[in-house]
Amino acid sequence: MPAKIISKDMLSENVFSLVFDAKQIALKRKPGQFVVIRIHEQGERIPLTIADADAIKGTITLIFQVVGKSTALLAEMLPGQEILDLVGPLGKPTHIENFGTVACIGGGVGIAPVFPITQGMKAAGNHVISIIGSRTKDLLILEDEMKAVSDELIVSTDDGSYGYHGFVSQALENNYLLLGKHIDTVVTIGPVSMMRAVCDVTRKYNIPTVVSLNSIMVDATGMCGACRVSVGGKTKFVCVDGPEFDGHLVDFKELIDRQHIYLDQEKESYDHFCSCRSGR
Ligand SMILES: Cc1cc2nc3c(=O)[nH]c(=O)nc-3n(C[C@H](O)[C@H](O)[C@H](O)COP(=O)(O)OP(=O)(O)OC[C@H]3O[C@@H](n4cnc5c(N)ncnc54)[C@H](O)[C@@H]3O)c2cc1C
Ligand code: FES
Repeated sequence: MPAKIISKDMLSENVFSLVFDAKQIALKRKPGQFVVIRIHEQGERIPLTIADADAIKGTITLIFQVVGKSTALLAEMLPGQEILDLVGPLGKPTHIENFGTVACIGGGVGIAPVFPITQGMKAAGNHVISIIGSRTKDLLILEDEMKAVSDELIVSTDDGSYGYHGFVSQALENNYLLLGKHIDTVVTIGPVSMMRAVCDVTRKYNIPTVVSLNSIMVDATGMCGACRVSVGGKTKFVCVDGPEFDGHLVDFKELIDRQHIYLDQEKESYDHFCSCRSGR
C-alpha cells in the first residue's frame, strides 16, 4: 500500500531518516522486524529495518544508507511525497527477555536496527551495555538515542577521532571480557565483517550472540531463494526464518560471497543513475 513521507532528516553523510505514515505497521511492529518498500512501479524492493515507531501518531521511522540506485532515489524524496508500496512488518521479532546483562553492538548504519532492540532489552529489565561504532566521528548516528536506552555506552571509531580507538569487537573484548566482566548475551548488527569479528570474540568466551543478516532479497516471501544463508549447516531464508540468527552458526564466508554476486550490475545501474542526474 502507498505510504506518505511525513518528515526527513540527514543523520550523517549518506545516512537519512524518513518517517512514514503507516498506522497498521506502527501498531503491530516488534523490535527486529523490517519492511520492504518499492518507490515506483519499476523500482526494486528494498528491505529496511523499522528503526522506530509511534503507535499513537501511526508512524514508523526508517534509517538507511545510500549505497546504490534505489537508496539514492529514496534519499531524494521529500516530505509530502508518497512511495508506491510499504509492506510489513516482516521477519521474526527479536527474542527479548530478561537475560541479565546484554550487550547491544551496532556498527555504521547497523546502529539504526540495534536501537529498537536496545530499547526492548532495557524495557525487559536487562542491564544494557551498548557499544556503537563508525569509521569516523562524522559518520556516527543515534548516539544520544542509544545513550537514553542504555545503562552503559561505549562509542568507538576506527580512526580514533572519537571515543575508543578501534573496532566495536575490540571495545567489547578490551573493556569487558578481558577484564572478567560478565555478559549473558550479545546482539550485534552492522557490516557482515563486523558481525563476524564480534562472533569470533564472543565464541572464545562462550557468550550466545544474535546477528541480523542483511542478505540480498527479492520477493521477501520465502519463495525465490535469493536470501538463503547457511546456518549450522542448514539452509535458511533470511526473509522468513530471520533476519536474526545464532551468529556462531552462520556461514559468514558464503554470505559475503553471495552479497557480491550482483556487484557489477549494481555498480552499472548506480553509475547510470548518477550520470543521468548530472546530465552527462
Ligand atoms: C532484513 C534487512 C534489513 C535491512 N535494513 C536496513 C536498514 O535499516 N538500513 C539500511 O541502510 N540498509 C538496510 N538493509 C540493506 C538495504 O536493503 C540495502 O542497502 C539496499 O537494498 C541497497 O539498495 P540499492 O539499490 O541502493 O543498492 P544496490 O545497488 O543494491 O547496492 C549497491 C552496492 O552497495 C553494497 N551494499 C548493499 N547493501 C549493503 C549493506 N547493507 N552494507 C554494505 N554494503 C551494501 C552492494 O554490495 C553494492 O556494491 C537491510 C537489508 C535487509 C535484508
Ligand atoms: S527474498 Fe526470496 S526467499 Fe527470501
